[in-house]
Amino acid sequence: LAARGRGGVLAGRRVLISAGPTFEDIDPVRFLGNRSSGRMGFAVAEAAAEAGAEVVLVAGPVHLPTPAGVRRIDVRSARQMHAAVLDAAVRSDVYVAAAAVGDFRPTEVAAHKIKKRGDGGLSLELTQNPDILADVADLPQRPLLVGFAAETENVEAYARAKLERKRLDLIAANQVGGGLGFEVEDNSLTLISADGIRHLPTAPKRELARQLVGVIAERLAGRAA
Ligand code: CTP
Ligand code: CA
Repeated sequence: LAARGRGGVLAGRRVLISAGPTFEDIDPVRFLGNRSSGRMGFAVAEAAAEAGAEVVLVAGPVHLPTPAGVRRIDVRSARQMHAAVLDAAVRSDVYVAAAAVGDFRPTEVAAHKIKKRGDGGLSLELTQNPDILADVADLPQRPLLVGFAAETENVEAYARAKLERKRLDLIAANQVGGGLGFEVEDNSLTLISADGIRHLPTAPKRELARQLVGVIAERLAGRAA
């Protein structure tokens, strides 16, 4: 185990992590969600705390225990996550965006449970949510930015495009679907940055998180604490 506290590779660093899905309410009893379990982000939070960092974890609606030594802020919707992340980002050295943020929310939330009318269907109008990473990237003193890209196809090409479009320092890409990525214990990651690519082969998420924290510590080493 890496030393907790002073001796770790992230000692003196403030790490902000977002994890889990977001839920976008349709009416008082229904929502739009996604299959993110939150486990990858929680594992990164745990590994960062073990490496001595001061860790803030902005968590979407998941039932996972808070890792030791981590300050947790629970949110539900993408807009709540946006507000909590932007607030903490100004005091962070690195932001790891491991959350699966809902891209869209219902334009209007019905005040009462939506009832069926006859045997007709229902159309929901959706509005795009704010891009949290993009807004953190616009901060005057932006933290080191680490994004995640969960893709069902063309993983590397899509991840590279996201690295550039979102002005990230590093992106952790993985294949999802067909028993990979979401809702499972193991994962594999491809880390892509402007200066190269590195594959982290299939391993438990906690092990991958430790490796990712090691890579982040190396990249932060070039920046003043
Ligand atoms: N992300 C974010 N805010 C959003 C959507 C995504 O900060 N509104 C972050 C995620 O936390 C992740 C990264 O952006 O770190 C990539 O998310 P992804 O869903 O793969 O990318 P999108 O830009 O939403 O593109 P698309 O879903 O259309 O592929
Ligand atoms: Ca998305």
